[in-house]
Amino acid sequence: MAKIEIKLSDIPEGKSVTFKWRGKPLFIRHRTADEISTERGVAVSTLRDPQADDQRVQKPEWLVVIGVCTHLGCVPIANAGEFGGYYCPCHGSHYDASGRIRKGPAPLNLEVPQYAFPDEGTLIVG
Ligand code: FES
Repeated sequence: MAKIEIKLSDIPEGKSVTFKWRGKPLFIRHRTADEISTERGVAVSTLRDPQADDQRVQKPEWLVVIGVCTHLGCVPIANAGEFGGYYCPCHGSHYDASGRIRKGPAPLNLEVPQYAFPDEGTLIVG
């Protein structure tokens, strides 16, 4: 199936839920106000793969990323690691709550797929 439709009210604030999309894990994270302000405050120049948070999210509350570590393709664990986002246990890559690589061997941020919000309560990925 090319597209996946997600009802946002099913994902409580502070949770990251994993869906399957085009054979890959898809992480949808309902970010808290603290997470949003932390990620917005990161100095982009300090990042390995420099991207501002607002280049990665369309709405601050919702992070949408492919759940495949950019090192060798393991699936990171949500709400783990030193930067409050995702942690890949295979070789120890730490991602923040914007899905950006912050520590460990992975070279790139978690990939952001094409997505849209057709209405207030719905997300379509693909
Ligand atoms: Fe994730 Fe190596 S595959 S750190």
